[in-house]
Amino acid sequence: MMNVSSQVIFTKNIAIDLEQYLRQWLDNKQYKNIFVLVDENTRKHCYPILDKIFSQSQVIEIPSGELNKNIHTCGQIWGQLTDFKADRNSLLINLGGGVIGDMGGFCAATYKRGIDFIQIPTTLLAQVDASIGGKLGVDFQGFKNQIGVFQYPKYVFLDIGFLQTLPQRQLISGFAEILKHCLIADLKKWKEISRKSIAQQDWADLVVHSVGIKSEIVAQDPKETGLRKILNFGHTLGHALETYLLEIPERQVLHGEAIAFGMIVESFISFQKNLISKTELSEITAVIQHFFGKIDISKTEFEKIIELAHQDKKNTSQQIRLVLLESIGKASYDHSVSPETLQQSLEYYANSYDFEK
Ligand SMILES: NC(=O)c1ccc[n+]([C@@H]2O[C@H](COP(=O)([O-])OP(=O)(O)OC[C@H]3O[C@@H](n4cnc5c(N)ncnc54)[C@H](O)[C@@H]3O)[C@@H](O)[C@H]2O)c1
Ligand SMILES: [Zn+2]
Repeated sequence: MMNVSSQVIFTKNIAIDLEQYLRQWLDNKQYKNIFVLVDENTRKHCYPILDKIFSQSQVIEIPSGELNKNIHTCGQIWGQLTDFKADRNSLLINLGGGVIGDMGGFCAATYKRGIDFIQIPTTLLAQVDASIGGKLGVDFQGFKNQIGVFQYPKYVFLDIGFLQTLPQRQLISGFAEILKHCLIADLKKWKEISRKSIAQQDWADLVVHSVGIKSEIVAQDPKETGLRKILNFGHTLGHALETYLLEIPERQVLHGEAIAFGMIVESFISFQKNLISKTELSEITAVIQHFFGKIDISKTEFEKIIELAHQDKKNTSQQIRLVLLESIGKASYDHSVSPETLQQSLEYYANSYDFEK
């Protein structure tokens, strides 16, 4: 049965809450087999929190990282499901960050034409973004999320307890998507979180807040024919930089770090098009650089980044279509942009003052 939305469960004690669900499913014979997908980090840090209740489950472990989010790893997952004789009444539990969620969800949605899956996101980025909205998939031939489907998990369990073992850099990366949600939809929250340090942020509150904003937007436009595009604010230029730096191992950036860059650049374009004021642009730049610092990009690299932005699969017929801010807290989509403005926006970023982290 195709799920058209998920039940999102906020919990302060996932072990207790999930056990109740699992017992019910097993008692009802709803699922014959339960599989848990992990990577080496979530096996070490997250699985032990749940191992007692997973005593009747099979664990599938794959290597961590975006570089493994590909069809080859899907082959390993489908292979193990097949070896374990998983039938259509199986459940796959994806315990990990966005890589595990996107890829595990994709494997579940396609294995035997689809088995149920649930998401237990363990990174901030996956909790506030990747686990919500039904987009699943893997990277292919250098393009992010090139192969995938829309399908919703049965449940998403959100417990910020998992964030305790998350490296600080990963935490801040996830924070970029929270800033994005505020910039496109909530001025008041933007002001509130801008004033606090990372250590002072109230993650429980922010996860609920981001999930609320994203769910509301997705509900209005599940397949991204219009409004949902605003969730891509910062992502056209951000993805371009992320893709460009993929090939330079010593300069690799995390997704959120690239999106932080993209949000400054796309805010500049919003300013250039008279949508936001100079004051708003300066505020956005200062806040983002305060949390993320600045990525060194030289003028000679602009052309390549712009070229990659043109290849973004969200563009139609080679024209870049951007999400821009109308003000802090309001976004609109499908703006075209001239090559000159793109060039100027990268210059703005490169010349902007590097605020101390
Ligand atoms: N489907 C969507 O709508 C959507 C939205 C945004 C991002 N994404 C995808 O999400 C992915 C990025 O997700 P991510 O940032 O979570 O990356 P990730 O899954 O690679 O996790 C980051 C790192 O943290 C480790 N980790 C995870 N949880 C941990 C924990 N609790 N303690 C210690 N270490 C832990 C992982 O093993 C990994 O090394 C990208 O592939 C991106 O395309 C998808
Ligand atoms: Zn993102």
